[in-house]
Amino acid sequence: MYKLNGVMYSKEQIREKVIELAKEIEKDYAGEELLVVAILKGASVFCADLIREINLDVNMDFMCVSSYGNSTTSSGTVKIIKDLDVDIKNKNVLIVEDIIDSGQTLSSLVKALNTRKPKSLRLCTLLDKPQRRASDIKVDYVGFVIEDKFIVGYGIDYAEKYRNLPYIGIVEDI
Ligand code: IMP
Ligand code: MG
Repeated sequence: MYKLNGVMYSKEQIREKVIELAKEIEKDYAGEELLVVAILKGASVFCADLIREINLDVNMDFMCVSSYGNSTTSSGTVKIIKDLDVDIKNKNVLIVEDIIDSGQTLSSLVKALNTRKPKSLRLCTLLDKPQRRASDIKVDYVGFVIEDKFIVGYGIDYAEKYRNLPYIGIVEDI
């Protein structure tokens, strides 16, 4: 049995961090156009808050990906369930994730998107669990670095539950 057990980051702490990240992004892309790509479903809440704090010409698109089982196919391959609507050739693309764990999902996504020749491709994640990293990816904007705990809320689920929590909570085995 799993149970929600404690708050890791409050609504206020998340809000502060989102503004901090947005201002950094705004500074780095000053004078440029930016396509922000939210990875569904988890990053949708974070991304919606983030883009509203970025004072630039921002376009938004979505992708939904799922990792293949690691035993049947070569590791680090993603299946694209919903692809981008727009062509990213010569565009500044910022991928927005909720949480990076092994990094497999993002590393294969980056490979796939780089073949489309964007002008630039960077990664932003609200949460990072570097302890379990299995592929070396460079994440350009990181909100919180956390220990290896299972967290939920602010878009992130456990079995599709808890996405609507306004804070980030910890789920524990009881
Ligand atoms: P990875 O980096 O390829 O291992 O996968 C990252 C994905 O795993 C995230 O986008 C989440 O969907 C999921 N994930 C990893 N850690 C957690 C967690 O603590 N809570 C909920 N989902 C998680
Ligand atoms: Mg995800």
